[in-house]
Amino acid sequence: MQVNFKLLHFNKAIISGLFFSILTSLVTILLPLSLKTLIDGSMNLTSILTIVGLFFLQMIFALLAQFLIAVAGEKQVTTLRKQLHQRLLTNPISFFDNEKSGELASHVLHDSDVLRSFLTHYFPEFVTGLITLTGSLIVLFLLDWRLALFMTVLLPLLMILITPLSRISGKFAQKIQNLLGDLTSIVSENFQQIRLIKSTCAEEQVQKRFDQKINLLYRTSQKNAFVEAFTTPLAMMMLFGMVVIIFAYGGVRVAEGSLTVGTLISFLIYLFQLLNPVSNIASFFSGKAKAEGALNYLKELTAVTPENPTGDKASSGELALSHLSFSYDQEIILDDISMTFPQGKKIALVGPSGAGKSTIVHLLERFYPLSTGTLTLNKKDSRLIALKDWREKFALVSQDNQLLAGTIAENLQLGLPVPASDDQLFAALKVAYLEKEVKALPDGLQTIIGENGVKLSGGQKQRLQLARAYLRKPEFLILDEATANLDSDSEQYIQKV
Ligand SMILES: Nc1ncnc2c1ncn2[C@@H]1O[C@H](COP(=O)(O)OP(=O)(O)O)[C@@H](O)[C@H]1O
Ligand SMILES: [Mg+2]
Repeated sequence: MQVNFKLLHFNKAIISGLFFSILTSLVTILLPLSLKTLIDGSMNLTSILTIVGLFFLQMIFALLAQFLIAVAGEKQVTTLRKQLHQRLLTNPISFFDNEKSGELASHVLHDSDVLRSFLTHYFPEFVTGLITLTGSLIVLFLLDWRLALFMTVLLPLLMILITPLSRISGKFAQKIQNLLGDLTSIVSENFQQIRLIKSTCAEEQVQKRFDQKINLLYRTSQKNAFVEAFTTPLAMMMLFGMVVIIFAYGGVRVAEGSLTVGTLISFLIYLFQLLNPVSNIASFFSGKAKAEGALNYLKELTAVTPENPTGDKASSGELALSHLSFSYDQEIILDDISMTFPQGKKIALVGPSGAGKSTIVHLLERFYPLSTGTLTLNKKDSRLIALKDWREKFALVSQDNQLLAGTIAENLQLGLPVPASDDQLFAALKVAYLEKEVKALPDGLQTIIGENGVKLSGGQKQRLQLARAYLRKPEFLILDEATANLDSDSEQYIQKV
């Protein structure tokens, strides 16, 4: 899965949106001119109709532009989120060992939104800002070059003052985004591990950890608010100064008779109209930096070599591990292990804790590459066999809760290529000694089992996983201490299966 990391995705919606934005800018440039004619000339029907017509056009164009660009942004963010999610699913298990799931979730959702604002907000406003600015300046110079020169000198002064402020605020925004990511991860973990927190009376401790981060967020947002609060009054002050200067100079010119009142007023309208474009042009660069920051972060997440899904079809036969050694980091966990499992066998791993049973399962599932040694199926090296095909040969039942938050039926059918009938589901439940209990539930197969299956007992969770494994009709059923939570009756029953 390739993620499209372009900053700008040009499609029909964005191009037509930009087109209407440009039309809006053109009308914006014309509007003060027609007001000037109205003020200086006679008040006739044509000029009034022209102004009304232009206002109306401006409204329609702006409306179309905003809608089309917003749609393009929604489309971009949807595609990006889909692609990111799909791509991250292909990252190897070792990647997830080192990431916090809450933080990942926050980045997949929020960073893509930063890119959306670039496409729907910073970029179009930059383009139209440039057009409005250039067009207005041309008109202003044609109207009265001396007054126009005054404004072209004054406007950049405004930019010089505003730009550093918007850059600082951009830095704060990035920091706020990262803190929000940390917080998302803390909150989701706290609620997921609520039992652990309550039973260890760790509420105060986790609250403190949360408070520390959120206070940092508060202080950062406070600083940001301070900077932002400065921006508007400062701009207003500058603007007021400019109005005074233009009035002072323009007043003399009007008194002289070398400038009409209409021209002077249209200059002032242009000045107000140009404020937004000018500040948009200035903030474009910080918006671009923000979007590039988000993009780089997402690129890093997807820079990990994905699992390679390609390979030959798997045939059936004996599964063999030979002279296998393995370490996650430095420490050697498995040292020169050899085992064989005849076709269609149950593989039950029991033994002292920390011996490496789950590690063997991880290697059988090809979650990690082997350090040395080989893993073969029917004498064929596992690395040559397509990953999906390989994993379909196995069903794993472990002592962890490998359950999703949905219903019993959904959990049973997870990953099944074709949906199973209720009869098939009950048959599997029967094998796992769970049929009667599910039938006794008011919602039966549609019972929602809660996050990680919290609404089930430990034994029920494990038997549900056994039923799921049975339903997959695997060639190798791997039981990783799978009978740890079962009472002896059901254990014996299952051992017989
Ligand atoms: N993802 C991992 N990253 C690093 N070390 C790990 C990882 N998983 C397990 N280990 C280490 O590997 C050793 C064997 O663990 P494991 O295979 O889970 O044992 P068992 O399942 O037999 O109890 C332990 O020392 C453990 O600390
Ligand atoms: Mg284990």
